[in-house]
Amino acid sequence: MLSDLGTDVRPGPLAPDHVLGIGGAALTLAGATVRQPVASALDIGIGCGIQALHLSRHSTKITGTDISERALAMAATTAALNGLEWELLAGDLTEPVAGRRFDLVVTNPPFVIGTGDATHAYRDSGRSGDAVVAEVLATAPSLLNDGGWLQLLGNWLHLADRDWTERVAGWLPDRCDAWVVQREVLDPAEYVAMWLRDAGQDTAEHAHRATAWLDWFAEHDVRGVGFGLISVRASNVDSPSQVIEDLRQQTDHPFGIQVGEFFDRQAAVRRTGLLDLHLVAAPDLRLRQEASRGADGWEVEDQLLTGGGLRATHPVDPLMVSRWWLAATAHFRCGTS
Ligand SMILES: C[S@@+](CC[C@H](N)C(=O)[O-])C[C@H]1O[C@@H](n2cnc3c(N)ncnc32)[C@H](O)[C@@H]1O
Repeated sequence: MLSDLGTDVRPGPLAPDHVLGIGGAALTLAGATVRQPVASALDIGIGCGIQALHLSRHSTKITGTDISERALAMAATTAALNGLEWELLAGDLTEPVAGRRFDLVVTNPPFVIGTGDATHAYRDSGRSGDAVVAEVLATAPSLLNDGGWLQLLGNWLHLADRDWTERVAGWLPDRCDAWVVQREVLDPAEYVAMWLRDAGQDTAEHAHRATAWLDWFAEHDVRGVGFGLISVRASNVDSPSQVIEDLRQQTDHPFGIQVGEFFDRQAAVRRTGLLDLHLVAAPDLRLRQEASRGADGWEVEDQLLTGGGLRATHPVDPLMVSRWWLAATAHFRCGTS
Protein backbone atom coordinates (compact mmCIF):
# COMPACT_ATOMS: atom_id res chain seq x y z
CA MET A 1 0.00 0.00 0.00
CA LEU A 2 1.35 3.42 -0.91
CA SER A 3 0.67 6.47 1.26
CA ASP A 4 2.47 9.43 2.78
CA LEU A 5 4.34 9.06 6.07
CA GLY A 6 2.55 10.24 9.21
CA THR A 7 3.84 12.69 11.81
CA ASP A 8 4.97 9.73 13.96
CA VAL A 9 7.64 8.99 11.32
CA ARG A 10 8.20 12.40 9.74
CA PRO A 11 7.53 15.19 12.26
CA GLY A 12 6.30 18.61 11.22
CA PRO A 13 3.08 20.00 9.75
CA LEU A 14 1.41 17.77 7.17
CA ALA A 15 1.10 19.07 3.61
CA PRO A 16 -2.41 20.18 2.50
CA ASP A 17 -2.55 17.24 0.06
CA HIS A 18 -1.25 14.68 2.58
CA VAL A 19 -2.54 11.16 1.81
CA LEU A 20 -3.29 9.20 4.96
CA GLY A 21 -1.80 5.81 5.63
CA ILE A 22 -3.35 3.12 7.82
CA GLY A 23 -4.87 5.13 10.69
CA GLY A 24 -7.11 4.23 13.62
CA ALA A 25 -10.26 5.49 11.88
CA ALA A 26 -9.47 3.49 8.73
CA LEU A 27 -9.09 0.32 10.82
CA THR A 28 -12.32 1.04 12.72
CA LEU A 29 -14.27 1.31 9.46
CA ALA A 30 -12.58 -1.74 7.95
CA GLY A 31 -13.43 -3.73 11.09
CA ALA A 32 -17.07 -2.60 11.09
CA THR A 33 -17.76 -3.21 7.39
CA VAL A 34 -20.27 -5.94 6.59
CA ARG A 35 -18.19 -8.48 4.67
CA GLN A 36 -20.84 -10.22 2.60
CA PRO A 37 -20.10 -11.01 -1.07
CA VAL A 38 -21.32 -8.15 -3.31
CA ALA A 39 -21.15 -7.36 -7.02
CA SER A 40 -20.30 -3.66 -6.68
CA ALA A 41 -18.69 -1.55 -3.97
CA LEU A 42 -17.91 2.16 -3.76
CA ASP A 43 -15.35 3.87 -1.50
CA ILE A 44 -15.96 7.64 -1.24
CA GLY A 45 -12.65 9.40 -0.53
CA ILE A 46 -10.53 6.36 -1.36
CA GLY A 47 -7.21 7.93 -0.21
CA CYS A 48 -4.40 5.36 -0.35
CA GLY A 49 -6.91 2.54 -0.93
CA ILE A 50 -7.03 0.84 2.48
CA GLN A 51 -10.82 0.28 2.40
CA ALA A 52 -10.72 -0.75 -1.26
CA LEU A 53 -8.07 -3.39 -0.48
CA HIS A 54 -10.42 -4.96 2.08
CA LEU A 55 -13.38 -4.62 -0.32
CA SER A 56 -11.38 -6.50 -2.97
CA ARG A 57 -11.81 -9.69 -0.97
CA HIS A 58 -15.61 -9.76 -1.29
CA SER A 59 -16.63 -7.37 -4.07
CA THR A 60 -16.44 -8.16 -7.79
CA LYS A 61 -16.08 -4.52 -8.89
CA ILE A 62 -14.64 -1.62 -6.91
CA THR A 63 -15.05 2.07 -7.60
CA GLY A 64 -13.29 4.81 -5.66
CA THR A 65 -13.76 8.57 -5.74
CA ASP A 66 -11.50 11.28 -4.34
CA ILE A 67 -11.16 15.02 -4.72
CA SER A 68 -7.38 14.73 -4.56
CA GLU A 69 -5.52 13.69 -7.72
CA ARG A 70 -2.56 12.78 -5.52
CA ALA A 71 -4.71 10.38 -3.48
CA LEU A 72 -6.07 8.82 -6.69
CA ALA A 73 -2.51 8.32 -7.98
CA MET A 74 -1.58 6.59 -4.72
CA ALA A 75 -4.72 4.42 -4.83
CA ALA A 76 -3.87 3.44 -8.42
CA THR A 77 -0.38 2.44 -7.27
CA THR A 78 -1.79 0.44 -4.35
CA ALA A 79 -4.11 -1.40 -6.76
CA ALA A 80 -1.23 -2.12 -9.17
CA LEU A 81 1.04 -3.34 -6.37
CA ASN A 82 -1.65 -5.84 -5.41
CA GLY A 83 -2.51 -6.92 -8.95
CA LEU A 84 -6.01 -5.38 -8.67
CA GLU A 85 -8.07 -3.16 -10.94
CA TRP A 86 -10.19 -0.40 -9.45
CA GLU A 87 -12.25 2.24 -11.20
CA LEU A 88 -10.88 5.55 -9.87
CA LEU A 89 -12.80 8.78 -10.41
CA ALA A 90 -11.92 12.37 -9.51
CA GLY A 91 -14.56 14.64 -7.99
CA ASP A 92 -16.56 15.74 -5.01
CA LEU A 93 -18.05 12.95 -2.85
CA THR A 94 -20.54 11.00 -5.04
CA GLU A 95 -20.68 13.50 -7.90
CA PRO A 96 -18.47 11.30 -10.20
CA VAL A 97 -20.92 8.35 -9.82
CA ALA A 98 -24.17 10.32 -10.17
CA GLY A 99 -26.98 8.09 -11.48
CA ARG A 100 -25.20 4.82 -10.53
CA ARG A 101 -26.07 2.38 -7.74
CA PHE A 102 -23.95 0.06 -5.60
CA ASP A 103 -24.42 -2.93 -3.27
CA LEU A 104 -22.03 -1.58 -0.65
CA VAL A 105 -20.76 1.96 -0.09
CA VAL A 106 -18.13 2.69 2.56
CA THR A 107 -16.58 5.98 3.47
CA ASN A 108 -14.17 7.41 5.99
CA PRO A 109 -14.88 10.94 4.75
CA PRO A 110 -13.08 14.14 5.73
CA PHE A 111 -15.50 14.45 8.65
CA VAL A 112 -13.60 16.81 10.93
CA ILE A 113 -15.91 19.55 12.21
CA GLY A 114 -14.80 23.11 11.74
CA THR A 115 -15.48 26.48 10.28
CA GLY A 116 -15.74 25.29 6.68
CA ASP A 117 -12.16 26.25 5.74
CA ALA A 118 -10.39 23.32 4.10
CA THR A 119 -6.68 23.27 4.85
CA HIS A 120 -6.11 19.49 4.62
CA ALA A 121 -7.96 17.21 2.16
CA TYR A 122 -7.74 14.14 4.42
CA ARG A 123 -9.49 16.00 7.26
CA ASP A 124 -11.57 18.95 6.01
CA SER A 125 -14.57 18.65 3.69
CA GLY A 126 -14.97 22.38 3.06
CA ARG A 127 -18.44 22.15 4.62
CA SER A 128 -19.07 23.91 7.87
CA GLY A 129 -19.97 21.99 11.04
CA ASP A 130 -21.05 18.38 10.57
CA ALA A 131 -22.75 18.97 7.20
CA VAL A 132 -20.62 16.43 5.31
CA VAL A 133 -22.08 13.50 7.28
CA ALA A 134 -25.63 14.69 6.59
CA GLU A 135 -24.76 15.15 2.93
CA VAL A 136 -23.33 11.64 2.52
CA LEU A 137 -26.36 10.09 4.25
CA ALA A 138 -28.74 11.98 1.98
CA THR A 139 -27.22 10.21 -1.04
CA ALA A 140 -28.20 6.72 0.22
CA PRO A 141 -31.61 6.41 -1.51
CA SER A 142 -30.17 7.24 -4.95
CA LEU A 143 -26.84 5.44 -4.43
CA LEU A 144 -27.82 2.02 -3.06
CA ASN A 145 -29.29 -1.00 -4.78
CA ASP A 146 -32.24 -2.61 -2.96
CA GLY A 147 -30.82 -4.23 0.18
CA GLY A 148 -27.52 -2.34 -0.27
CA TRP A 149 -25.45 -0.93 2.57
CA LEU A 150 -23.87 2.44 3.30
CA GLN A 151 -21.39 2.55 6.18
CA LEU A 152 -19.53 5.65 7.27
CA LEU A 153 -17.57 7.13 10.12
CA GLY A 154 -18.42 10.61 11.24
CA ASN A 155 -18.42 13.37 13.80
CA TRP A 156 -21.55 15.16 14.96
CA LEU A 157 -22.17 18.19 17.10
CA HIS A 158 -23.58 18.09 20.60
CA LEU A 159 -25.36 21.43 20.88
CA ALA A 160 -26.41 23.13 24.08
CA ASP A 161 -30.14 23.10 23.35
CA ARG A 162 -30.62 19.83 21.48
CA ASP A 163 -30.20 16.12 22.12
CA TRP A 164 -27.55 14.76 19.70
CA THR A 165 -29.73 11.77 18.83
CA GLU A 166 -32.46 14.06 17.45
CA ARG A 167 -29.93 15.85 15.29
CA VAL A 168 -28.54 12.61 13.83
CA ALA A 169 -32.04 11.09 13.46
CA GLY A 170 -32.93 14.01 11.19
CA TRP A 171 -30.21 12.90 8.75
CA LEU A 172 -31.29 9.27 8.39
CA PRO A 173 -32.80 8.52 4.98
CA ASP A 174 -36.42 7.36 4.60
CA ARG A 175 -37.14 3.69 3.81
CA CYS A 176 -33.73 2.65 5.14
CA ASP A 177 -32.95 0.72 8.31
CA ALA A 178 -30.19 2.44 10.23
CA TRP A 179 -27.94 1.84 13.19
CA VAL A 180 -25.94 4.72 14.65
CA VAL A 181 -23.34 3.85 17.26
CA GLN A 182 -21.66 6.70 19.11
CA ARG A 183 -18.25 5.52 20.34
CA GLU A 184 -16.72 8.67 21.82
CA VAL A 185 -17.54 12.25 22.83
CA LEU A 186 -14.86 14.94 23.19
CA ASP A 187 -15.21 18.47 24.47
CA PRO A 188 -14.32 21.22 21.96
CA ALA A 189 -10.90 21.96 23.50
CA GLU A 190 -9.84 18.29 23.42
CA TYR A 191 -11.18 17.94 19.91
CA VAL A 192 -9.32 20.92 18.48
CA ALA A 193 -6.09 19.93 20.25
CA MET A 194 -6.35 16.38 18.89
CA TRP A 195 -6.80 17.45 15.26
CA LEU A 196 -4.10 20.12 15.40
CA ARG A 197 -1.73 17.48 16.80
CA ASP A 198 -2.81 15.04 14.10
CA ALA A 199 -1.76 17.48 11.36
CA GLY A 200 1.45 18.50 13.17
CA GLN A 201 -0.05 21.96 13.80
CA ASP A 202 0.22 21.87 17.59
CA THR A 203 2.86 24.60 17.66
CA ALA A 204 2.89 28.28 18.64
CA GLU A 205 2.80 29.39 14.99
CA HIS A 206 -0.57 27.65 14.62
CA ALA A 207 -2.09 29.05 17.84
CA HIS A 208 -4.33 31.41 15.83
CA ARG A 209 -5.94 28.33 14.23
CA ALA A 210 -6.86 26.92 17.61
CA THR A 211 -8.37 30.26 18.63
CA ALA A 212 -10.47 30.63 15.46
CA TRP A 213 -11.64 27.01 15.72
CA LEU A 214 -12.64 27.31 19.38
CA ASP A 215 -14.39 30.63 18.70
CA TRP A 216 -16.49 28.88 16.04
CA PHE A 217 -17.52 26.20 18.55
CA ALA A 218 -18.42 28.86 21.13
CA GLU A 219 -20.46 30.90 18.60
CA HIS A 220 -22.46 27.79 17.69
CA ASP A 221 -23.09 26.73 21.30
CA VAL A 222 -21.23 23.46 20.84
CA ARG A 223 -20.79 21.43 24.03
CA GLY A 224 -19.11 18.38 22.55
CA VAL A 225 -18.31 16.39 19.44
CA GLY A 226 -19.50 12.82 19.03
CA PHE A 227 -17.70 10.23 16.92
CA GLY A 228 -19.09 6.98 15.67
CA LEU A 229 -20.23 4.61 12.98
CA ILE A 230 -23.42 4.98 10.94
CA SER A 231 -24.70 1.97 9.01
CA VAL A 232 -27.69 2.23 6.70
CA ARG A 233 -29.45 -0.44 4.66
CA ALA A 234 -31.81 0.29 1.76
CA SER A 235 -34.63 -1.93 3.04
CA ASN A 236 -37.33 -0.19 1.00
CA VAL A 237 -39.94 -0.33 3.78
CA ASP A 238 -42.40 2.30 5.04
CA SER A 239 -41.45 1.92 8.72
CA PRO A 240 -37.76 1.19 8.87
CA SER A 241 -35.98 0.41 12.12
CA GLN A 242 -33.63 3.26 13.03
CA VAL A 243 -31.65 2.83 16.22
CA ILE A 244 -29.32 5.50 17.62
CA GLU A 245 -27.30 4.66 20.69
CA ASP A 246 -24.25 5.34 22.74
CA LEU A 247 -21.93 2.32 22.98
CA ARG A 248 -18.64 3.48 24.40
CA GLN A 249 -17.46 0.20 25.90
CA GLN A 250 -14.65 -1.85 24.39
CA THR A 251 -16.01 -4.19 21.71
CA ASP A 252 -14.73 -7.34 20.07
CA HIS A 253 -12.90 -6.36 16.93
CA PRO A 254 -13.89 -6.63 14.12
CA PHE A 255 -17.62 -6.13 14.69
CA GLY A 256 -18.82 -6.13 11.07
CA ILE A 257 -20.46 -9.48 11.90
CA GLN A 258 -22.54 -7.80 14.62
CA VAL A 259 -23.53 -5.03 12.20
CA GLY A 260 -24.76 -7.59 9.66
CA GLU A 261 -26.64 -9.50 12.39
CA PHE A 262 -28.28 -6.31 13.64
CA PHE A 263 -29.83 -5.64 10.22
CA ASP A 264 -30.78 -9.31 9.73
CA ARG A 265 -32.65 -9.18 13.07
CA GLN A 266 -34.61 -6.10 12.03
CA ALA A 267 -35.59 -7.80 8.76
CA ALA A 268 -36.53 -11.05 10.57
CA VAL A 269 -38.75 -9.23 13.08
CA ARG A 270 -40.46 -7.39 10.24
CA ARG A 271 -40.95 -10.56 8.17
CA THR A 272 -42.17 -12.86 10.91
CA GLY A 273 -43.39 -10.61 13.70
CA LEU A 274 -41.68 -10.59 17.09
CA LEU A 275 -44.16 -12.95 18.75
CA ASP A 276 -43.78 -15.64 16.07
CA LEU A 277 -40.01 -15.63 15.99
CA HIS A 278 -38.11 -18.49 17.52
CA LEU A 279 -35.55 -16.63 19.60
CA VAL A 280 -32.42 -18.09 21.08
CA ALA A 281 -30.06 -16.48 23.55
CA ALA A 282 -26.53 -15.79 22.31
CA PRO A 283 -24.06 -18.32 23.76
CA ASP A 284 -22.13 -15.67 25.69
CA LEU A 285 -25.19 -14.03 27.25
CA ARG A 286 -24.67 -13.27 30.96
CA LEU A 287 -27.08 -12.07 33.64
CA ARG A 288 -25.68 -9.95 36.47
CA GLN A 289 -27.91 -9.36 39.47
CA GLU A 290 -27.45 -7.07 42.44
CA ALA A 291 -29.48 -7.83 45.55
CA SER A 292 -29.72 -6.50 49.06
CA ARG A 293 -30.80 -8.42 52.12
CA GLY A 294 -34.12 -7.31 53.63
CA ALA A 295 -36.36 -8.75 56.35
CA ASP A 296 -37.62 -11.44 53.91
CA GLY A 297 -34.22 -12.41 52.57
CA TRP A 298 -32.41 -11.31 49.38
CA GLU A 299 -34.23 -8.87 47.13
CA VAL A 300 -32.95 -8.34 43.59
CA GLU A 301 -32.67 -4.63 42.84
CA ASP A 302 -30.81 -4.47 39.52
CA GLN A 303 -30.46 -6.96 36.72
CA LEU A 304 -28.19 -6.47 33.74
CA LEU A 305 -27.83 -8.56 30.63
CA THR A 306 -24.47 -8.42 28.87
CA GLY A 307 -23.04 -10.26 25.93
CA GLY A 308 -22.46 -10.30 22.21
CA GLY A 309 -19.49 -8.87 20.35
CA LEU A 310 -20.48 -5.33 21.30
CA ARG A 311 -20.41 -6.30 24.99
CA ALA A 312 -23.54 -4.20 25.41
CA THR A 313 -25.22 -3.96 28.81
CA HIS A 314 -29.00 -3.68 29.16
CA PRO A 315 -30.99 -3.29 32.38
CA VAL A 316 -33.87 -5.80 32.39
CA ASP A 317 -36.85 -6.45 34.65
CA PRO A 318 -37.68 -9.87 36.17
CA LEU A 319 -40.28 -10.66 33.50
CA MET A 320 -37.70 -10.20 30.76
CA VAL A 321 -35.31 -12.54 32.53
CA SER A 322 -37.84 -15.27 33.24
CA ARG A 323 -39.22 -15.45 29.68
CA TRP A 324 -37.77 -16.08 26.27
CA TRP A 325 -38.12 -12.33 25.81
CA LEU A 326 -34.56 -11.94 26.99
CA ALA A 327 -33.32 -13.25 23.68
CA ALA A 328 -35.18 -10.51 21.83
CA THR A 329 -33.13 -7.75 23.42
CA ALA A 330 -31.53 -5.69 20.68
CA HIS A 331 -27.99 -7.02 20.93
CA PHE A 332 -28.65 -10.70 21.29
CA ARG A 333 -29.10 -13.15 18.52
CA CYS A 334 -32.30 -14.48 17.00
CA GLY A 335 -32.83 -17.46 14.74
CA THR A 336 -35.91 -17.97 12.63
CA SER A 337 -35.85 -21.78 12.48
C1 LIG B 1 -9.97 10.46 6.09
S1 LIG B 1 -9.36 10.21 4.46
C2 LIG B 1 -9.82 8.52 4.22
C3 LIG B 1 -8.92 7.76 3.29
C4 LIG B 1 -9.18 6.27 3.24
N1 LIG B 1 -10.43 5.96 2.55
C5 LIG B 1 -9.18 5.66 4.63
O1 LIG B 1 -10.15 5.01 5.01
O2 LIG B 1 -8.18 5.84 5.34
C6 LIG B 1 -10.51 11.13 3.51
C7 LIG B 1 -10.29 11.07 2.01
O3 LIG B 1 -11.33 11.82 1.38
C8 LIG B 1 -10.77 12.64 0.36
N2 LIG B 1 -11.65 13.81 0.20
C9 LIG B 1 -11.63 15.00 0.84
N3 LIG B 1 -12.63 15.79 0.43
C10 LIG B 1 -13.31 15.08 -0.50
C11 LIG B 1 -14.44 15.36 -1.30
N4 LIG B 1 -15.09 16.52 -1.20
N5 LIG B 1 -14.85 14.42 -2.17
C12 LIG B 1 -14.20 13.23 -2.29
N6 LIG B 1 -13.12 12.90 -1.54
C13 LIG B 1 -12.68 13.82 -0.66
C14 LIG B 1 -9.40 12.98 0.86
O4 LIG B 1 -8.55 13.36 -0.22
C15 LIG B 1 -8.99 11.66 1.54
O5 LIG B 1 -8.36 10.80 0.62
